[in-house]
Amino acid sequence: MTAIPATFRAFVATQEGDAASDRAGLGAGEAATPVVTRGVRTFAEADLPPGEVEVRVGWSGVNYKDGLATIPGGKVARINPLIPGIDLAGEVVASEDTAIAVGAAVLAHGHDLGVARHGGYAEYQRVPAGWVVPLPAALTPRLAMAVGTAGFTAALSVIRLEERGLRPSNGPVLVTGASGGVGSNAVGILAGRGYEVWAATGKADEADRLRGIGAAGVLAREEVTGESARPLESERWAGVVDCVGGSTLPYILRTLRRGGTVAASGNTGGPAFATTVFPFILRSVALVGIDSAVVPIAERRATWQRLAGDLRPNGLGDALTEVTLDTLPVALDAILAGRARGRWIVRVGG
Ligand SMILES: NC(=O)c1ccc[n+]([C@@H]2O[C@H](COP(=O)([O-])OP(=O)(O)OC[C@H]3O[C@@H](n4cnc5c(N)ncnc54)[C@H](OP(=O)(O)O)[C@@H]3O)[C@@H](O)[C@H]2O)c1
Repeated sequence: MTAIPATFRAFVATQEGDAASDRAGLGAGEAATPVVTRGVRTFAEADLPPGEVEVRVGWSGVNYKDGLATIPGGKVARINPLIPGIDLAGEVVASEDTAIAVGAAVLAHGHDLGVARHGGYAEYQRVPAGWVVPLPAALTPRLAMAVGTAGFTAALSVIRLEERGLRPSNGPVLVTGASGGVGSNAVGILAGRGYEVWAATGKADEADRLRGIGAAGVLAREEVTGESARPLESERWAGVVDCVGGSTLPYILRTLRRGGTVAASGNTGGPAFATTVFPFILRSVALVGIDSAVVPIAERRATWQRLAGDLRPNGLGDALTEVTLDTLPVALDAILAGRARGRWIVRVGG
């Protein structure tokens, strides 16, 4: 028994590698360049995966990973066709779990959503009960998607840094990729907790906004991606939230203070980096990885409660660009091109 209509609207990405091969007249064994077509179409309830909870999706968000899920070679989509969208928030319309009531406001993100299983860019979605997070009372579904996986990742990064002893009194904290989803949320969370937070950005015209949400200072991207022959430089950062990766980690490791930690979550600046062992063996710094997709549900629900409370980002609700299922491609292309300024949120049902 389902409460989802037989058909509904969804944004679908379909990879057509073989068709491209046929069109190009390639011979056997020749590799075809895959083509991904994407757009809104009617989707059948019968084609949704199984799950205990059915949700009428009100809002979703746009993350870098969502962009990757809709391009050839993005290495994110694991089913074809795929409804992308690693975040969703909405209202429960049917539930086989007694702890999750019909009519409840909920959100879900990560796990396989929008990657190996249909995600949030659909008017309805069906998800396992163990992925469902009750919407904290202090958040609307729209604001929850302003946080989204990006803000959840920023919160996890701050939690991991504080688990390793970071406190505002330890010194300044750096956030890289600061204009984007993870970065802006991290600046807002850290500033709200009383840290002296510095924002590194490639967009000079984002400096005022970043100061507005609490950045004490702004660094140009060149400063945090520059190469150096020195394995160690002056100790500067007590902690770092880094979502850029390959191009920033060498600088970060060289400039972390003794005992400092960097929480690394992303690779918009590339996946590979070269460093030395010296920051580790002479300054006891730590490089901690963040994977928001597989956080156990109890910790996920507790982290969301904190995101609505003591980890609520400064400026939450500002710097939002709203798109719909029909206008999604603009946001997906822009995030892949590094043009993020805050968050894009997707009005699905509203
Ligand atoms: N591990 C996890 O669980 C997890 C969860 C969420 C996201 N992520 C990853 O974290 C990263 C950020 O995600 P997001 O959703 O916040 O993306 P986003 O909104 O696009 O933000 C990324 C920011 O990175 C900076 N950037 C872009 N291209 C760059 C380049 N070539 N070199 C250096 N910096 C560049 C830009 O900031 P500035 O212009 O301000 O420098 C951009 O706004 C992605 O790699 C994503 O896959 C990981």
